[in-house]
Amino acid sequence: MRVLLHIDDIDTWRQALVERLPEAEIVTADDPADKRRNADYLAVWQPPEALLAEQAQAKGIINLGAGVDALLNNPALPENVPIVKLRDAGMAELIADYARYGILHFQRDFDRYRRQQAQREWRAHAVVDKHDWPVGVLGLGAIGAKVAAMLAADGFPVHGWSRTPKSLAGIRCHHGDTGLAALLRQVRSLVLLLPSTASTRHIMDAEALAALPKGASLINPGRGSLIDEAALLDALGEGAQEGRLRGAILDAFPEEPLPATSPLWTHPRIWITPHMAGPTPLGEAVDQVVAAIRAFEAGDEIETVDPDAGY
Ligand code: GLV
Repeated sequence: MRVLLHIDDIDTWRQALVERLPEAEIVTADDPADKRRNADYLAVWQPPEALLAEQAQAKGIINLGAGVDALLNNPALPENVPIVKLRDAGMAELIADYARYGILHFQRDFDRYRRQQAQREWRAHAVVDKHDWPVGVLGLGAIGAKVAAMLAADGFPVHGWSRTPKSLAGIRCHHGDTGLAALLRQVRSLVLLLPSTASTRHIMDAEALAALPKGASLINPGRGSLIDEAALLDALGEGAQEGRLRGAILDAFPEEPLPATSPLWTHPRIWITPHMAGPTPLGEAVDQVVAAIRAFEAGDEIETVDPDAGY
């Protein structure tokens, strides 16, 4: 059985797969074309079009990340090949840390203290109790549900939203358009963890941003397409003066790397990180890849991506 592997840090991945899946021949883009042709399985993260185009015969594709948007949008994606994606695989905990950092940044006034520091101003603000700091999580998939649970365990009242109804212990779950409006009205920090699909594009548009209470903050470790950037800049207002929105911590952008000309880079109330919130950790991810390939080979039932839904 031949497995084509494509991801950053390929040597570590190759070694892990050679050890864990001894029955497979692991090939990569560095192998000669005839050697890597006709792979049975593709274990890939954002593969180049040319590499994917060679592999129409694959029996299964394993997306080495949580979001399948880049793969589904790849014009060379072979048709009707089942796709499995990583589910959590340790990413949820990393993303929960990112969300925590973002929420605490505003709840404990680190944004204000930074500006005060520039003025050498020594002035403490009263702490708003966590219990009075409702947090919203949009997207309750494998990652969103776990992040919501961790934030609730930290003591924040957590509201979650998904397209279809869900019920999660300790989380006030909302769904559908009316549920989204109800959630937005109540939260002081909003964490975006939806997949990038046609129906989530610009879900945070001018209207949604205006529905948030004044002084709310936005944290996006999800996908850049979720936010209408012009509406975000408008809600933040000019300069250091807090607008309707207090600030935004952003890890994902419609175009990555974020172009040097983007106005987001220099906005005083935007914090930018380079898509680092939830890197794929090797351990559990390799377990999921091995389990998926063995399930495909055995013809076992396996949870696959719905290309129409986009996740
Ligand atoms: C990272 O963005 C992922 O989708 O795993």
